[in-house]
Amino acid sequence: MRDVFAKIQASTTRADAMKRDRTYPYGTVLAERRGPVAVVGGREVIMASSNDYLGLSVDPRVVEGAARAARRYGASCTGAPIMNGTTGIHRELEERLAVFLGREAAVLAPSGFQANLALATLLGRGDTVFADRANHASLVDAARLGFGGHRRYRHADLGHLRRLLEATDPDCGRLIVTDGLFSMEGDVADLPALKRLAGEQGARLVVDCAHDMGLLGPNGRGTPEVQGVAPDLVTATFSKCFGSVGGVLAGDREVVDFLRHHARSLVFSAALPPPSVGAALAALEIIESEPELRERVLGLSARLREGLRAEGFETAGDAPIVPVFVRDDERCRAMWRALLDEGVLVNAVSSPGVPVGGELVRVAVTARHTGEQVDAIVAAFVRARAQMPWRAAMPSSSESSPKVNSQDGSSLRAAPSAQARMEG
Ligand SMILES: Cc1ncc(COP(=O)(O)O)c(C=O)c1O
Repeated sequence: MRDVFAKIQASTTRADAMKRDRTYPYGTVLAERRGPVAVVGGREVIMASSNDYLGLSVDPRVVEGAARAARRYGASCTGAPIMNGTTGIHRELEERLAVFLGREAAVLAPSGFQANLALATLLGRGDTVFADRANHASLVDAARLGFGGHRRYRHADLGHLRRLLEATDPDCGRLIVTDGLFSMEGDVADLPALKRLAGEQGARLVVDCAHDMGLLGPNGRGTPEVQGVAPDLVTATFSKCFGSVGGVLAGDREVVDFLRHHARSLVFSAALPPPSVGAALAALEIIESEPELRERVLGLSARLREGLRAEGFETAGDAPIVPVFVRDDERCRAMWRALLDEGVLVNAVSSPGVPVGGELVRVAVTARHTGEQVDAIVAAFVRARAQMPWRAAMPSSSESSPKVNSQDGSSLRAAPSAQARMEG
C-alpha cells in the first residue's frame, strides 16, 4: 500500500546532504537581530536577507506601537474579525489604509498570504484567473482554491496574456492578478498595459503590492501610484515595509464588504493580533511623514546594484530587491555559504521560488544600512566568487538597466527579467 509519507524520505536525504556540506540555506538562526546586522553562529554579519526595506521592524516607535496595543488589547483577539476580533485599532488601521491607498475601504487579514487567498472567493465556476507565472505562491494558491479556471501567462508577456484571454469563452468572468513589484527578481509589472487589456477584455485587475506598498511612489502607495493606475483591488502585507505582520485588501466598499463576510481565509481565522496592528499603525505614520526613508533605501540599492555590475555580476531591476543570478541550485547554495562565511547573510533562491535555471542569490538592503555596509556586501561577493571552483562560468552583467530615481522610484518600469528571457 502506498504511504503518503513516502515522499518525505527524498526531501530529508537531500536536506541532510546540504547540511553535511554546510550549504543548507533555510531557517538560519539569528541569535540576535539588530536591523542591518544579525548574529549568526556567534558572529556578527550584515543582514542582507530581510524585507524590512525601511528598517521599521526595529524602529522604537513601531516597537512601542506594538507594546502599547498589547497592553491595551492583549496579545491576541482569540477570534475571527467578524466574531470578537475587531478592536478599535483594527478599525482605525482599516480606515487609515483606505485613505492612504486612495480606496473606498480596506479589510485586514492575518497575513498577506491570507489576504491573497481571499481572492479565491471571487472565483466561481465559469470564472477564470489569468496570472503572471512569476506571481507569489499565495496568488497561485488562491487560484487553486477557487472554483474557476487558472491560466498562467509567461512572466511580463502581455502578448501571451492577450492570447489566453482571447481564447477564453467570452461569457467567462475574468480576473487578472499580478505582483506589483516581483519579489525575487525585483522588476515591476506594466500596470497601465494590464489595465488597458483588462478593460478591453472585460476583466478585473488585482495587484499584489506586498513589496511596493510603503516603498515606491512619492507617497509610498506602491506601483499603482508610480504608474498612475487604479486596479480594481489591491492586496498587500505589513511584513515588508511596515515592519510588522498582517495583510490587507483595498478597493470599492461593496467589494471589500463582500470579502469581509465571505472570504474563508478572513472569516475562519483569528484576527490580526493587536500588537501587529499597533506596529502597522505606527509604521503607517512614519511612511506617510518620512519620504526620506524611501529615498535612502532606493539610493542604497542603486549603489549596491552598480557595485555588483561593476564587478561583473548579473543583476536586474531597480528596487531594494537585488537579484544576483547564479542559474544553478548547487552553485547558488555554495555562493550563499561563502557569503555567510564572508560576513553577509543573503537568501539562496531556487525552484519553486524561481524557475529551474533562474536560481539566484537575493540581496535586500534597507534604509538602516550604511553606504559602507553596501560596499562591504559587494566586496564579500567578490571574495566569495573567488572561492568558487566554477567562477569562470559565472554569468556577468550583459544589459544596462534604467537608473532609479532615488526621490520616489518613479522611473521604475517593467524590466525584461531573466525568466522572460528564458521563456522566450
Ligand atoms: C508578493 C508577495 N505576496 C504575498 C506575500 C505574503 O505575505 P505575508 O508574509 O504577509 O504572508 C509575500 C511574502 O513573501 C509576497 O512576497
